[in-house]
Amino acid sequence: MIGDDYFLIREHSEILESLQKFSLKDDGLGSIFDKIVEISIGHFDREEETVVILGQYLYDSYVHHKIVERGTLKKAAEEFKIEYGTLLDEHRDIERLLQSIPEEELQKKDVRTIKHTLLRHSEMEEHLLFPSAMLIASTILREDA
Ligand SMILES: [Fe+2]
Ligand SMILES: [Fe+2]
Repeated sequence: MIGDDYFLIREHSEILESLQKFSLKDDGLGSIFDKIVEISIGHFDREEETVVILGQYLYDSYVHHKIVERGTLKKAAEEFKIEYGTLLDEHRDIERLLQSIPEEELQKKDVRTIKHTLLRHSEMEEHLLFPSAMLIASTILREDA
């Protein structure tokens, strides 16, 4: 089973912690981050129940030669196929919110950093994690058909 020390789960916690700090501000920036937090909480949970399990399976089986419980994998594979489109839509929603941060706020290093971190996180998922998880999901569901 997935452990809390898996790098993507750690990254989700770190990102959420920063986002929540910004969302506490009682201004326009706070309300942008409030909306990002609202999307991210459910988004990260669903990733951790689907794509993260498939990603860790790849790592565990190739690097550690561990056997991962089949039922857990099959459930993650089925749910990832259903959730994939929504996860991508949520990345676009988060991106749009990040693009709406006023230019003067982006003069601040911490605001620039969280924007960059979040965009790079989604990009890494879409370019590496999602495609490899989709391949694994298809293989698992074919083998179990
Ligand atoms: Fe994520
Ligand atoms: Fe994501």
